[in-house]
Amino acid sequence: MQNSIATFIPGAHTLPSSLREFITEKSVIVRSPGRINLIGEHTDYNGGFVLPAAINKAVYMVMNERVDNGIHLHAIDLHENYITSVTDLQESVESSWPNYVLGVVDQFLKAGAVLKGFDMAFTADIPIGAGLSSSAAVECATAKALNEMFGVGFDTLTMVRLSQKAENEYVGVQCGIMDQFASMFGKKNHVIKLDCRSLEYDYEPFNMNGIKIVLFDTGVKHSLGSSEYNVRRQQCEKGVALIQQHLSEVRSLRDATPAMLDQYVLTEDVHVYIRCRYVVEEIQRLLAACVDLEANDMEAFGKKMYETHFGLSKLYEVSCDELDYLVEHVQHNPHVLGARMMGGGFGGCTINLVEEEAVNQLIEETATAYRNAMKLDLKAYVVSIEDGTSVLK
Ligand code: GLA
Repeated sequence: MQNSIATFIPGAHTLPSSLREFITEKSVIVRSPGRINLIGEHTDYNGGFVLPAAINKAVYMVMNERVDNGIHLHAIDLHENYITSVTDLQESVESSWPNYVLGVVDQFLKAGAVLKGFDMAFTADIPIGAGLSSSAAVECATAKALNEMFGVGFDTLTMVRLSQKAENEYVGVQCGIMDQFASMFGKKNHVIKLDCRSLEYDYEPFNMNGIKIVLFDTGVKHSLGSSEYNVRRQQCEKGVALIQQHLSEVRSLRDATPAMLDQYVLTEDVHVYIRCRYVVEEIQRLLAACVDLEANDMEAFGKKMYETHFGLSKLYEVSCDELDYLVEHVQHNPHVLGARMMGGGFGGCTINLVEEEAVNQLIEETATAYRNAMKLDLKAYVVSIEDGTSVLK
């Protein structure tokens, strides 16, 4: 079996072996990565900037066309199946994973794509619930595979938007565009400076000379996550609405200044003010961090990551004890240039920029400290920046 696959898939040896039994000569095979974000958190849905990158952890998906309209899904790692059909798409109630796939099918159909039935199997080495956007990776893999298999012809940005909409409408999280954009548009050794308002973007080289990106996985995912995420969005929208009563040209927090917040929001709602204050500062901080990056001043860049963490924890209030502990623990370590919680919050990972020679020791002693303090095992991932979603075959 292995030999025959190798004859029609270049690089077949790099595919997870669990996929092999699903591959035929006509299969479409897609790799779609998870993401990190260096700085610019909770700014995407406020029309601000983000600085994400795709990583070396990914979803691998095999899709085969069927003769009927059935949709037969198989999650290899969970040993679970789900069956529905293109003509009568039924969302899954028992497990959530099929909905990331079906949400994209639904969006494709609504956007006018002509689809037929298919079998799909996937596996992933992106840890679930760790804030590395495994869900966006499944959505983007689905979009890319459908596009390829049925010759739909959507461009990459359209697929990004449909994947985001799938998450908004099918899964019910009002996420911004960062995760899906990073998964699709990632470029090896580069971060993406994305303007989430215009969707213009630049690739900035990320110089990893002597530095490693280390993720510390708290191992927790507090259930508050998605509901509080949507609450933050509403608070930001309220802040904009308060400013708009005086300055109609302000369309999002991207247009707001600290002075506007002081004048029009503080007096009305302190809570909303504090949330908006974080976002406005973070958008400015990201722009300043990009200047650091261009100057290759990673120390200054790292300092801003700590500032972001402080803002997320104390002003935006999307951190948790485990995340705060991990950041505080490394903060005075001279080998750690910067650290902060990453992604939506309430669990998941911290991202750390660490001097290469200190990585192993840092992981070891942080794991011990974390176990003592939180009674939890710490997982650590040393990640590299890789290309975005691609069709392998
Ligand atoms: C989640 C969302 C993103 C973004 C981040 C916070 O990952 O999916 O759109 O808002 O949180 O920066």
